[in-house]
Amino acid sequence: MTRRGRILLKTLVWGACLVPLALLAWRAWTGDLTANPIDFVTDTLGRWGMRMLLASLALTPLRLVLGIGWPLILRRLLGLFAFFYVSLHFLVWVVLDHFFAWAQMGADIVKRPYITVGVSALALLVLLAATSTSGMVKRLGARAWRRLHRIVYVAAVLGVLHFMWLAKVGRIEPYVYAAILAVLLGVRLAGAVRAFRVRRRGTRAGVTSESSSDNRPPRRSIVARTEIMGGPDMAPDHRTKGADAPLGLPRPPALGAVPGGARTHPRNPGRPSRARFVQGR
Ligand code: HEM
Repeated sequence: MTRRGRILLKTLVWGACLVPLALLAWRAWTGDLTANPIDFVTDTLGRWGMRMLLASLALTPLRLVLGIGWPLILRRLLGLFAFFYVSLHFLVWVVLDHFFAWAQMGADIVKRPYITVGVSALALLVLLAATSTSGMVKRLGARAWRRLHRIVYVAAVLGVLHFMWLAKVGRIEPYVYAAILAVLLGVRLAGAVRAFRVRRRGTRAGVTSESSSDNRPPRRSIVARTEIMGGPDMAPDHRTKGADAPLGLPRPPALGAVPGGARTHPRNPGRPSRARFVQGR
């Protein structure tokens, strides 16, 4: 996708993500927040937080199953919007529901399991949002960062549990979210298993073919070095450039990649590239 296309797409998604908030503001302005405005605002923000979290998690399975990789550039944006809506949801609880009664809120967190679970999910989202910048990827190292960001799945499971716990008997919406999350997790798990198998097969093939011809130590095959799985779901999007290989196929090495994993500058092979993280997500 061209730079212009990316900017346009992101602008559209920014606008779309702000629509629920704008509608809420409009309803507040026109005095149309139902008979129980605090509950209505809390629920609306919580539901949109949940939906955006699931949307951000759906992008990698989309690439794994259908081979459509371009929506991955929206992953960080959607993840951060999920965090934004859940934070507002929490703030309404703190400010409007409890009016900063910290002792009362502490008791609620301890006594009510759905609040305990919701706060735990929020704590994980805070951690993910705080480490979502490109600077944090560099500081932590791509591999550690990717591992850390897998906790987005834990946050989503806790979010769904929170909803299931508080919903009235007979309400199906939380079960719909749970089913969607189960499918997304299933696809990721299948992708991980498949990637592991391909890597193992590649390593074996690399070892037997390369070590049999001479006495040099075997080199790891390109398949073994190439990450197949998509990475975390609040990812800085410049790292998703090479990320559109469908399930089970290794991605091509990044521009400027040289055997052994080191990368050089695309136009000046003598210079190390700054795009250290382009591959491997
Ligand atoms: C990832 C984190 C969270 C998600 C995804 C989430 C999502 C939701 C959803 C979907 C609902 C139900 C909306 C409905 O009934 O239509 C809800 C309700 C609620 N949430 Fe959360 N929530 C999260 C975190 C929190 C936190 C941190 C708190 C407060 C400490 C909280 C407090 C509440 C309360 C009090 C309600 C019930 C409001 C009512 O109907 O009286 N949630 N949340």
